[in-house]
Amino acid sequence: MKQGALLVCAGAAVIGALVVALVMHNRIAHAPVAMVEAVTAEYGQHLIRNTALELGSGQSDPARRFTGNNLACASCHLDSGQMPGMLSLMQAASKYPAFSKRDGAEADLADRINGCMQRSMNGRPLDKDSVPMRAMVTYIEELGRRYEAMSESQRGGAEPAGFVEPARKANLEQGANVFRNRCMVCHGQNGEGLKATADLAHGYLFPPLWGTDTYNSGAGMARVLTAARFIKARMPLGQPTLSDDEAFDVAAYINVQQRPGMANLEKDYPDLKGKPVDSTYPPYADPFSAEQHRLGPFAPIREFYKKAE
Ligand code: HEC
Ligand code: HEC
Repeated sequence: MKQGALLVCAGAAVIGALVVALVMHNRIAHAPVAMVEAVTAEYGQHLIRNTALELGSGQSDPARRFTGNNLACASCHLDSGQMPGMLSLMQAASKYPAFSKRDGAEADLADRINGCMQRSMNGRPLDKDSVPMRAMVTYIEELGRRYEAMSESQRGGAEPAGFVEPARKANLEQGANVFRNRCMVCHGQNGEGLKATADLAHGYLFPPLWGTDTYNSGAGMARVLTAARFIKARMPLGQPTLSDDEAFDVAAYINVQQRPGMANLEKDYPDLKGKPVDSTYPPYADPFSAEQHRLGPFAPIREFYKKAE
């Protein structure tokens, strides 16, 4: 009896937490209002929030389908990039054009968006002059103007202290524990997420962390340090209370699971010395194993490059 009551309580608490998270993040009502397709910030924001509907499974014209998964840009750029802090898009416009070490070339904001299209969204690039691309650029530029007008306190955001990398190799068993205790309730037993509708036209309520319908092996999130920084700042959604060790281990656990592969990754970072230490794919300009690049420890790798300078 007692156990039954406990289970009911635990169940109610979990469902309560889910509803709070959904309401907080405006995920319940996806009112598909008629959206005017034009080069406006409003349409750009709509694309970043409803990416699956407009550029993925929900798009009936295959020529206009660009994403290879059904995440939304807003699955990582929370509140469609309006939330200050981790992966905010509020200051993105001011950073471009800039030299991209990954591409070995100058990249403007549209190129950077296409980077996320081909990697985080496992898709294909949009034509830089197309309406959807110009609308997303317009929206991100508008966020930049809004950021300029914000006060210092508004810009601060409300995040836990930044991730500090533990000086050790990530522990996958511990990561599995963190996943089961803190993530599985939303992201699913096999990291498969929770669909918003069966046909995926509206993407996910809780996006997948691994499997076939998520970010690919070339994405920033596939790197343990990038993922750990994001997870420490934002996850579990609405309750980001993980320690550095927990964030590090769970990030590693997620990223050793199977996910879509990206072709031609060996062409990334033409100057290999500029490759991030946690890049999971070869070649490298150092003698460390792929496993160490994937799981750490990273200090010896940094030390190697420092000495070589
Ligand atoms: C799986 C998570 C994920 C998804 C989905 C995603 N991104 Fe990103 N995005 C990232 C990460 C990680 C970075 C790199 C941040 C860094 O360089 O530290 C990034 C960087 C960017 C930047 C550059 C920001 C800056 O300040 O330099 C832009 C712009 C951007 N993304 C736009 C988009 C758009 C538009 C979409 C949808 C088409 C999208 N992203 C989907 C994870 C994601
Ligand atoms: C209360 C539900 C909930 C819990 C618990 C939760 N997440 Fe999330 N997570 C989300 C939602 C929702 C998003 C997408 C953001 C949005 O839609 O606003 C997300 C996005 C993500 C993303 C980026 C998108 C993707 O699909 O890769 C990662 C990575 C992630 N979560 C990891 C974790 C990890 C690791 C944990 C456990 C420590 C965790 N989450 C716990 C709800 C949750």
